[in-house]
Amino acid sequence: MQTPKITVIGSINIDLVTGSPRFPQPGETLLGTSFDRFMGGKGANQAVAAARLGTEVCMIGAVGDDGFGREALAHLQAEGINTDRIKTLPDQPTGMANITVAEGDNHIIVVSGANFGITPADIEACEARIAESDVILSQLEIPMDCVLAAAKLARKHNKPFVLNPAPAQKLPAELLGLVTLLTPNAYELAISLGLPENTPVEELIKQAGVPVLMTRGSEGVLYNDENGNLHTQPSFKVTPVDTTGAGDTFNGAFAVFRHLGMKEATRKANAAAALSVTKAGAQSGMPTAAELEAFLAKQA
Ligand code: RIB
Repeated sequence: MQTPKITVIGSINIDLVTGSPRFPQPGETLLGTSFDRFMGGKGANQAVAAARLGTEVCMIGAVGDDGFGREALAHLQAEGINTDRIKTLPDQPTGMANITVAEGDNHIIVVSGANFGITPADIEACEARIAESDVILSQLEIPMDCVLAAAKLARKHNKPFVLNPAPAQKLPAELLGLVTLLTPNAYELAISLGLPENTPVEELIKQAGVPVLMTRGSEGVLYNDENGNLHTQPSFKVTPVDTTGAGDTFNGAFAVFRHLGMKEATRKANAAAALSVTKAGAQSGMPTAAELEAFLAKQA
């Protein structure tokens, strides 16, 4: 398989990003260093990451009937993403994320708006697309019952369902049972399973009971195989400008390369994520296929 057909079911946000010398304390006012507006949303970010790498991507989600929504749709279309199944909801604002970038990290508050206006029926209306996809990719910035509806359709049509459980929340057992691969960080996996945050990562992966691909920032990734053995894939060293969307880039790229096997897919997805943090904004640094290959060639 050269270019898998990917369907992303998830959120679309406008990111309002403030640069700051450090994160403020509660009740404190700080003078920021920059302000920018970027395209974002975990779903849209993952869709763009996959599309930039040259694969066919369709997105299922919702925007509001407002300027932000029209801008987001036009942007996704310009990235070559099929937006036919994105609903425009008349009575909801487009999702937005208030992001502070400081100290080499970020804080994000999402106001979901239209992202929480989609329903399981909307997902079920997209059954034909799910049935013809090679990978279904979702996250938790849309209602849980919509994620579950997508997972059920993926199972019905024997399609891999990759779930990036972010932002973290406890997963219903039924959903966990339908997941082909879970792609959390350590904190998200603990919350997904309802376990203490300080549970060792090896124990978390064992307790999950499903295949897990854990992202660990600069430490790379950790994943289990069908025999329960753990494998690591190191990250690539770059100088980060903005880490927002690094996980999304990893997920979108992984979906594109999944058919190459875990080792190669995680190597390429790590490289895409590394490139993504070298520019400001969630999507600005996401590489094209040529940029990714050029980066990898330099690492050899
Ligand atoms: O993962 C990064 C994304 O989280 C941002 O683009 C923001 O919109 C939030 O959804």
